[in-house]
Amino acid sequence: MYLNQLKKKAAWAALNYIVPGTVIGIGTGSTVSYFIEALSTIQNSFSGVVSSSNASTRLLKEKGINNILNLNIFSSLEIYIDSADEINTNMQMIKGGGGALTKEKIIAGMSKKFICIIDETKKVNVLGKFPLPIEIIPISISFISKEIIKIGGIPKVRKNVITDNGNIILDVYNLNIDDPISIEKKINLLPGVVTVGLFALRGADIVLIGKKKGVEIIEK
Ligand code: 5RP
Repeated sequence: MYLNQLKKKAAWAALNYIVPGTVIGIGTGSTVSYFIEALSTIQNSFSGVVSSSNASTRLLKEKGINNILNLNIFSSLEIYIDSADEINTNMQMIKGGGGALTKEKIIAGMSKKFICIIDETKKVNVLGKFPLPIEIIPISISFISKEIIKIGGIPKVRKNVITDNGNIILDVYNLNIDDPISIEKKINLLPGVVTVGLFALRGADIVLIGKKKGVEIIEK
């Protein structure tokens, strides 16, 4: 499929940003699966990886990348490579389409550089067409749903999904995200929320956009 070719282009371009000998943070999703494939071809150039999900860990192992390190060994990393569901011109993102938002946000927060790899359809002017994922503790569904409705969103529990952390995902439709930082802060404060998939306080530093004619690079 055409979009997959664009994802692949962006993913392979991320190899240029690897600092030799360092540990790389690995995101989750179909774009990242191309990055993992690319990474497996330069195994001597990095010392290990930390993974943001069980799915990525499985894929890393399948591709022969076995030096998968525990996140708690580190307090900072050089780079984190991940994709997004939507990204705006301020490099703020909606993430969590794959349900791995909590570990993704932890790794993004501890990384000096967040390199976001996307196909060109992920670029938007205003975030929110893609439903905003929130990882929540199961007993908080009713309370958080009520609070989300109050701010104009329509919450729906993601069917048949339990996160790697044993929680559930609420996907929020119809939310007007014209001020991503204030919405991120507001949702973060609700008791029962583990992580909101708005990456506005910590956005991306570099965006690699796979396009028909090549890869566009946007830097802060
Ligand atoms: C997973 C994510 C992904 O980065 C996001 O869903 C994009 O995925 P894909 O590369 O498959 O389009 O946040 O939790």
